[in-house]
Amino acid sequence: MLCKTLSLLASLLVAALPGVAQELKPIPLPKPRMEGGMPLMEALKNRKTSREFSPAKLSPQILSDLLWAGFGINRPENAHRTAPSAMNSQEVDIYVATEDGSYVYDAAGNRLVPVAAGDIRAKTGKQEFVKIGPVSLLFVADLARLKKAKPEERDHYAAIDTGFICQNIYLYCASAGLSCVVHELDRDGLPEALKFKPEQKIVIAQTVGFPKEGATKK
Ligand SMILES: Cc1cc2nc3c(=O)[nH]c(=O)nc-3n(C[C@H](O)[C@H](O)[C@H](O)COP(=O)(O)O)c2cc1C
Repeated sequence: MLCKTLSLLASLLVAALPGVAQELKPIPLPKPRMEGGMPLMEALKNRKTSREFSPAKLSPQILSDLLWAGFGINRPENAHRTAPSAMNSQEVDIYVATEDGSYVYDAAGNRLVPVAAGDIRAKTGKQEFVKIGPVSLLFVADLARLKKAKPEERDHYAAIDTGFICQNIYLYCASAGLSCVVHELDRDGLPEALKFKPEQKIVIAQTVGFPKEGATKK
């Protein structure tokens, strides 16, 4: 009885203390929908930057479709991806920061792997929208994976490879009626918060969510 009361008190204390986070679990994603959507030419016609968001969360299905479009595996026989990468280095990981915590997209496992509890979205940019959009994507290059490139060329390739992923996400958002914006961010503190290895560098961020008005959940 005493044990039960103490454990209840401990969990209440943990819940009440800011920064003392509950442990996050991996989130399995539903199978991405690889068919349908808007015809490519129409998606290109609609692609745009939008900086106004509803705070409504994205469903696991939308998140799965979005991440697969961005940098999922489209050829399982050789694990190649929806975006090209220099020498097929696949050095860019998509970190997904939400209100509940930060995760990294595991394309092979089609799941989100927890990285850190707590909401870091407000730190992913200086503009107001980062606090409202439900998902901040951080494109993080592991430069060690660019081992076939000369060291002085690695940042350059990581930036180019990230650009392809961001554009895939822009086009998915155009097709799915979502808002998104690629944006610069304040990198201070994020490597520690996200437990980076020294070779990992954030290239850029992209906030995604429903448009402010007329949000429809699919
Ligand atoms: C590398 C890069 C950095 C950007 N940084 C920001 C940013 O920090 N904040 C922002 O609001 N938009 C940012 N943008 C979005 C651009 O402002 C936007 O693409 C441009 O105004 C053209 O608008 P469009 O995307 O609707 O065609 C960035 C875009 C790129 C490609």
